[in-house]
Amino acid sequence: MIAQKSVQEILDTVKVEEVIQDFVNLRRRGVNLIGLCPFHNEKTPSFNVSPSKNIFKCFGCGKGGDAVQFLIEHEHFTFSEALLYIAKKYNIEVEETVVSQEAMAEKQHFESLYIVNQFAADFYQNELFETDRGKSIGKSYFKERGFRDETIRHFGLGFAPNQPDVLTTKAVGMGYNIEFLRSVGLTTQYDRDFFRDRVIFPIHNLSGKIIAFAGRILVKDVKAPKYINSPETEIYNKSKTLYGAFFAKRAIRQEDECILVEGYTDVISLHQSGIENVVASSGTSLTVEQARLIRRYTPNVKILYDGDFAGIKAALRGVDILLEQDLNVRIVLLPDGEDPDSYLQQAGVEAFKTYISQTAQDFIAFKADLLMKEAGNDPVKKAHVIKDIISSIAKIPDPIKRMVYVRECSRIAQVSEQVLVNEMNKLVMQQVNKAVAEKGMPPPTPGELEAAGITQREPVEVKAPDVLVSGDEFQEKDIARILVVGGNEWLDESKQVSVAQYIVSNIEEVLDHFDNALYGRIVREVWALVAAKKPATQQFFLQHEDADIKNFALGALTSPYEYSENWEKKWDIHLRWQKSPETNFEDDSRQALVRFKMRKIEKVLLENRQKIKELSDAGAHEQVIAYMKVLQKLLVMRSELAAQTGAVVLK
Ligand code: CTP
Ligand code: MN
Repeated sequence: MIAQKSVQEILDTVKVEEVIQDFVNLRRRGVNLIGLCPFHNEKTPSFNVSPSKNIFKCFGCGKGGDAVQFLIEHEHFTFSEALLYIAKKYNIEVEETVVSQEAMAEKQHFESLYIVNQFAADFYQNELFETDRGKSIGKSYFKERGFRDETIRHFGLGFAPNQPDVLTTKAVGMGYNIEFLRSVGLTTQYDRDFFRDRVIFPIHNLSGKIIAFAGRILVKDVKAPKYINSPETEIYNKSKTLYGAFFAKRAIRQEDECILVEGYTDVISLHQSGIENVVASSGTSLTVEQARLIRRYTPNVKILYDGDFAGIKAALRGVDILLEQDLNVRIVLLPDGEDPDSYLQQAGVEAFKTYISQTAQDFIAFKADLLMKEAGNDPVKKAHVIKDIISSIAKIPDPIKRMVYVRECSRIAQVSEQVLVNEMNKLVMQQVNKAVAEKGMPPPTPGELEAAGITQREPVEVKAPDVLVSGDEFQEKDIARILVVGGNEWLDESKQVSVAQYIVSNIEEVLDHFDNALYGRIVREVWALVAAKKPATQQFFLQHEDADIKNFALGALTSPYEYSENWEKKWDIHLRWQKSPETNFEDDSRQALVRFKMRKIEKVLLENRQKIKELSDAGAHEQVIAYMKVLQKLLVMRSELAAQTGAVVLK
């Protein structure tokens, strides 16, 4: 057990954003950080991290809590594991009290599985480095492949001897429960060792725990498979795992790019040469989960596949899944017959790096090029190819990117852009409808669809989200009220940003677009104060020379106003180790801003719809498309905001 003193020190030291940043790509927005939620699938970020409150909250799926909670949810850590992880990260010395009998018994099931795996990995590595057979067969094999000792140790590689049950017997002899060995697949149902006479590659999860193994055969035996893998278990889900991700994640974020290869040995080789942002799909086609995993660290993927026919086909197969997750995909074809590992060994690091940077092509262009060449002059084949490429492009969520690709594709295929656009719109609509049906996002109106040349076949039944535009100037008034009453308050406990600074910096773009002249004036007054680094005190408004402002301030300050229910309760966040905020200005300001933006978006949507109608009446098709793109963005923004207003209490 960790001593209470250490627990406190850990909790006092930890910064939630620093912990989360190791798993999620965050960027700053205002006083908070945002990113794609690791707990549910999303393409626009609704995962918020508040450094000042030291908590996170996802407005999409509702998960929230502190750094410890994050680690428990994300890494399946126990409470103590999460604390120890943080302690290690911050170099905090942990004082332990005696482990109680119950605490031992309470050790999580998962934990036992990881421990058994770690035991096996140590065993395999010991076999590799310390036994005669391990050295002469296993280690010499790795040496032949150019792996240095430090690399072998870094990746935890090992050797499984050719004996029926040496690992199982040893583990049981040391007190490991055979059930756990069976659960992780190390021991077969006949109590034999699963891996025998193979070199061993441990497979780690994102926090570096061993969740499975792969074993490579050393003899060229056609009957046995080259690799065997641990079976799927409670802790190992093959389709969610990318080999090497634990070793690569830092570099992926640093380089803002993920290199994707097929094999274990490719990852290790590249890593050893200093190219560390690399993960392997392990030979199977990519899955959505794997694509999402990459997307959490970077939007850019570079695929390195064998330049032969099989490699190319494999590349074509997986890529739509990457495109769907809004990843930018580039592809490098290696010289025929080479995989990344062999080519690296043969060409050397510098030549290898030059080669991949010079031959990387954008994936869509690559696909179009390749297939068009294959189709030659056959018009039927050509039509097929175009459909195929367009279907890839339609998977890209970003409409602007899609248009760029359509242009490129039109050039390569020598087909007019308009034909391609029409083809693509059909597919995009199918996807939009599907998304609408799944997520309840408001669909474009029939008029908009018609205007863009999209005909809707079947009407879609959708439950529209409750849109909180209660008309008039409620939202503007709310903002003005908060500024007058609490502009000079600190937004939160960190006491770094005032309510006035926060609100003004969030609505700067629309300062001049208030519908109500008075509220607009108040906001601009506050803006001027903030710019001049002066406080927005209540006195300032109460003594204002503008009688309307003065009266508004009087009214706002004298009428009772109840703050909405407190934060913890409403969002179900357990602020276990934190004082609950005395005042609720942050919450209040945030909600007012959401409502305000919602209303502004509604206005822009309306204008946009009118514009589309005008343009389509005038037959300006190109421009209609441009406005349609804006429309789509707006709809997404609106549904995001609507999701946030789920937490808003309207009076
Ligand atoms: N693979 C597998 N099972 C097999 C063959 C392959 O799981 N029977 C997976 C492994 O993850 C392997 C990847 O597919 O790393 C790529 O296969 P391959 O190119 O054949 O293996 P390499 O990793 O290149 O291994 P080596 O260089 O040792 O041949
Ligand atoms: Mn290889």
